[in-house]
Amino acid sequence: MLQAQLTIDPAHRVAPVRRRTFGTFVEHLGRCVYTGIYEPGHPTADEEGFRGDVLALTRELGVSTVRYPGGNFVSGYRWEDGIGPREQRPRRLDLAWHSTETNEIGIDEFIRWTRVAGLEPMMAVNLGTRGVQEAVDLLEYCNIPSGTALSDLRIANGAKDPHDIRMWCLGNEMDGPWQIGHKTALEYGRIAAETARAMRMVDPSLELVACGSSGSSMPTFGTWEATVLEETYDLVDHISCHAYYEEKDGDLAGFLACASDMEHFISTVVSTADQVGAKLGSRKKISVSFDEWNVWYLSRVQAAEPGQDWPVAPPLLEDHYHLADAVAFGSLLITLLRHSDRVAAACMAQLVNVIAPIMTEPGGRAWRQTTFHPFAQAARHAKGDVVRVEPVCPTYETAEFGAVPVLHAVATRDETETTLFVVNRSTAEPVELELDAGALGAGTGTGTGAVRIVEATTLTHEDVYARNTADDPDRVAPRPNTSHRSDPLRIVLPPVSWNVIRLSRA
Ligand code: AHR
Repeated sequence: MLQAQLTIDPAHRVAPVRRRTFGTFVEHLGRCVYTGIYEPGHPTADEEGFRGDVLALTRELGVSTVRYPGGNFVSGYRWEDGIGPREQRPRRLDLAWHSTETNEIGIDEFIRWTRVAGLEPMMAVNLGTRGVQEAVDLLEYCNIPSGTALSDLRIANGAKDPHDIRMWCLGNEMDGPWQIGHKTALEYGRIAAETARAMRMVDPSLELVACGSSGSSMPTFGTWEATVLEETYDLVDHISCHAYYEEKDGDLAGFLACASDMEHFISTVVSTADQVGAKLGSRKKISVSFDEWNVWYLSRVQAAEPGQDWPVAPPLLEDHYHLADAVAFGSLLITLLRHSDRVAAACMAQLVNVIAPIMTEPGGRAWRQTTFHPFAQAARHAKGDVVRVEPVCPTYETAEFGAVPVLHAVATRDETETTLFVVNRSTAEPVELELDAGALGAGTGTGTGAVRIVEATTLTHEDVYARNTADDPDRVAPRPNTSHRSDPLRIVLPPVSWNVIRLSRA
């Protein structure tokens, strides 16, 4: 068994926990919308056609924000197609996903769904095939109370109150050659600046997100951010990051260390933004909106053959996650929390069916994938302030990231409770972790005021490739970890595990 120590000291406060860290993403892609959040005729559907089982799981997941309607989809989207009487809405080719978009769901229905689910909407505008005017029109339709052509049209369509969307993404992944209307950094920086300027004329208080890089391995990474921010610095609040990870060539240990790339991604973008700010003589700080992140077996995605039919809501990107995926995912979430000083928002991509924590059968059951659990536990227990912790532990060698510590952790703390989130990335060895939590109270013994573990759970499985299915939905789920002892405080973390340890004063 490996040995490790970890000190939790409230003096190492990073920033408040931001609820927007627990955002997600609903794109018109595959079965995310149709037979995901929306399926009229489903036994649990409400009068609007929203699936009650998916709503219940979304609430249990503890999601804060939801980005919509894409993704690659938004770069060819005409938002006007999705408003007004359903029978008059056009069916369109969705070039991004080689599908047919029926437009049964549009902005008004989506906002109604966010209200029922209790989520904050985050809207992306199309800067691929469209531009400033269409973005401002959408903003007028959504946010102006009444008295203009588009706000009155919204009211006539049944939405009396404005949608009041505060956070807007200026396009999606415009650095990617796969993107409809892909641009150079300068071309994108110019249109993003013009769009932001016009949107701020409507409402200066909006929060605007400029597109950053679609991954840290993009050939333009770094120079893209610098050029885009030189054009937009005073006009936007956030720059986006997107990152997806997968196990490649059977290198499980390397995959479990993928958060090292996310760490590097965030610190590079923050330094680049600060450098642009310094060059411009600005005191303003740009934050990161990590508005797409997840495990995604992208290398297994097959491109649709040209000439095939254009299906409606086909099953696309339906990754079935195993235990190891959930542990890598948990480590990514730990990274986002560790950077709460500069990561203002994040969206796990996506919510349902498409690389998602929630899966559904059309007309049938819904269940939690393995990745559901780290997200739901962190959303529930991360409260108060983020506290930086650095485990003293053995490292292991990886081809991509060099030596990586076996443990990766973060703590959060409010007046009543401290919670430690920690993954053991060792593929073979349990780790006995000794905790020094003395700075939280009167020592770590058993007397009054001493800090003790009130609850510890572990997500693990003897088969690291174990998955949940509709027939066996709880095969991989958090279970109590009863290995903890006092004086000194210690607990055993199994290999390839996600752990939540809640501490309180006796
Ligand atoms: O989330 C799936 C896709 O990944 C999104 O549409 C796109 O923005 C990214 O490349």
